[in-house]
Amino acid sequence: MARATNPNELTDVSEAQIAVHWREEEYEQPSEKFKAQANMRDPRVFDRFTTDKFPDCFKEYAAMLTWFEPYKTVLDTSDAPFWKWFVGGKINASYNCVDRHLDKYRSKAAFIFVPEPESEPDVVITYQELYDRVNEMAALLKGLGLKTGDRVTLHMPMIPELPITMLACARLGVIHSQVFGGFSGQACGSRIHDSRSRVLITTDGYWRNGTLVDHKANADIAVRTAKELGQDVDNVLIWQRYPGKYSAKTPLVAGRDVIINDLLKQYKGKKVEPVALPGEAPLFLMYSSGTTGKPKGVQHGVGGYLAYVTATSKWILDIHPDDVYWCMADIGWITGHSYIVYGPLANAATSVMYEGVPTFPDAGRPWRIAERLGVNIFHTAPTAIRMLRKLGPEEPRKYKYHFKSMTTVGEPIEPEAWRWYFDEVGKREAAITDTWWMTETGGFLGTTVPAIHPMKPGSCGPAAPGIHIVIYDETGKEVGKGSGRAGNICIRNPWPGIMQTIWGDRDRYVKTYFGKYNKNPRSKDWRDWPFMCGDGAVQAADGYYRILGRVDDVINVAGHRLGTKEIESACLTVPEIAEAAVVPVQDELKGRVPEVYIALKPGVKASQDVIDRVIKANEEVIGKIARPKHVYIVPDMPKTRSGKIMRRVLASISNRRDVGDVTTLANPDVVEQIRTMVQGKDPVATKGELPEDIAKFGQVE
Ligand code: WTA
Repeated sequence: MARATNPNELTDVSEAQIAVHWREEEYEQPSEKFKAQANMRDPRVFDRFTTDKFPDCFKEYAAMLTWFEPYKTVLDTSDAPFWKWFVGGKINASYNCVDRHLDKYRSKAAFIFVPEPESEPDVVITYQELYDRVNEMAALLKGLGLKTGDRVTLHMPMIPELPITMLACARLGVIHSQVFGGFSGQACGSRIHDSRSRVLITTDGYWRNGTLVDHKANADIAVRTAKELGQDVDNVLIWQRYPGKYSAKTPLVAGRDVIINDLLKQYKGKKVEPVALPGEAPLFLMYSSGTTGKPKGVQHGVGGYLAYVTATSKWILDIHPDDVYWCMADIGWITGHSYIVYGPLANAATSVMYEGVPTFPDAGRPWRIAERLGVNIFHTAPTAIRMLRKLGPEEPRKYKYHFKSMTTVGEPIEPEAWRWYFDEVGKREAAITDTWWMTETGGFLGTTVPAIHPMKPGSCGPAAPGIHIVIYDETGKEVGKGSGRAGNICIRNPWPGIMQTIWGDRDRYVKTYFGKYNKNPRSKDWRDWPFMCGDGAVQAADGYYRILGRVDDVINVAGHRLGTKEIESACLTVPEIAEAAVVPVQDELKGRVPEVYIALKPGVKASQDVIDRVIKANEEVIGKIARPKHVYIVPDMPKTRSGKIMRRVLASISNRRDVGDVTTLANPDVVEQIRTMVQGKDPVATKGELPEDIAKFGQVE
């Protein structure tokens, strides 16, 4: 670990240059069979996407879409770094994902919905049915007065009505903001407020781990929270999980709540022309956590985003219309937006949607589904892989499915888990792509092109065509490949999938993603605006990147981004708490989990009750995923002389690492007290290095 150079501080400016060592893994090659059928198998594709061909190279992506009117400018940089792609063109995402497939694929399944209860039958939705249902829903939304540019918040689980609603919004140019169904009502309410939505679309219930969840209860909390913040919601629209039957216990609010299934009867057979939107019109918002306590409304635009997810679904996921593709992510996150809904549908895919928990009722469930439905492309996250491996290492062998390719996304995958995925799940037949990217980037950045590059366990690979990656150190110097040093991973150029802005906060957009490495804020030249992704990474001599995790105080829990400050403010809603500090802890299954340290106000006695209320506060303000692994009540926080809480010291204790030299702290004695509380009397610390994301934790202010 880097050592302090300035005795008054424990951090070191050159932290990004810490040597990161790991054993080089052996490559695996994609099979000849896979290569022969792949959409993209020509290594010369990269010659078409060199920086000197930028931005025109991306015309190839736009050409995969159907435009009502052709665009005039590929990339407009006049308001840099607010990039506008495919300007002058007219397009509609709903048309591209549905209407244009009717001639050829009318009777083909667009979605196969698999309910969590195994006794319930699958629901197959053909492209024709999808077209009919999207039109009826669009007519209903229009009937309620919604129009292009309005925002609508969705708080929906994994049921077909979610993509139907998204596509209905897209048809009208209404900007959808889907909040992950597992987030709490309060979290949903603050997002309603930030996006100024007057309509909330939800569901009465859904199955999760064998329970029919009363989801309507969250809508009432969401509306109340939004109102307290100053945003009124006129209507809550509720889909019924079982059409014709209300499945929630929470009563309806007269005049506000509307059962969609009832209202839809008025719109039976109605058609709505897709609105021809400007290429750069906003398509959706997706809230994501960052350094501050306030989630950012990441805004994506129609033309660029759709072109990018369509092309990467074709070339990287290798989706052909006759494949059966299953992405086990939740549509409530960016992966589901890009690679369950928009990208696959634009490619006329057949996409499986599973309602529930992968290990319900047992660890054989995904493989049973894959066998029964003939799934041949499988897409999931390391947490699910670890969980399925732990609970049923030999389960995949019992089922006769065959995957041609598989994806992993959302977190770094350790080579051991990768090997199990390759050997057991993929039966050594399937190519694996490790796709590194984020909410802000719309689609894949660091990845292999599966029929072109060999795979290397634990590394995402080089990059998608047209993505030019660079790693900078803290001073803006390039960190070379093969140097063994880590730095901040950035993209030199914009690409069509890049976010357009943070909703309502242009300054935060510029500051967060470009503040560190842009030297000329007035420049209109894209070369001056490298995009800082927020991850630490190293590049091996072979050009492959290994992602080390977030460096902006975001904890990646089971592939889901949680802001430290969001968790800390949730803790502070408990009145007895004076100070709260949250740190990431390595977890065998979930990658990272939050651990909470709290200091009580003077005179307050430590008790289990306070701890329980801190846990409850996190579940209520954020959601169950924010549940801390432990809550420790400490006599005082370790602090610098200037009063800054040293989260890194706490992170070292939580991760059973040596705390290093703490003599320069204002209260060094407290460190040993806390260490004993967490680890017991005898030191259990190892000298081993902390992972990069944890080592850098708490540096961003
Ligand atoms: C992490 C999810 C390692 C990374 C698509 C990133 C990954 C954050 C990978 C974004 C990967 C995503 N290997 N780490 N293949 N994919 N990450 O916005 O830290 O929910 O910054 O988008 O997940 O999370 P987000």
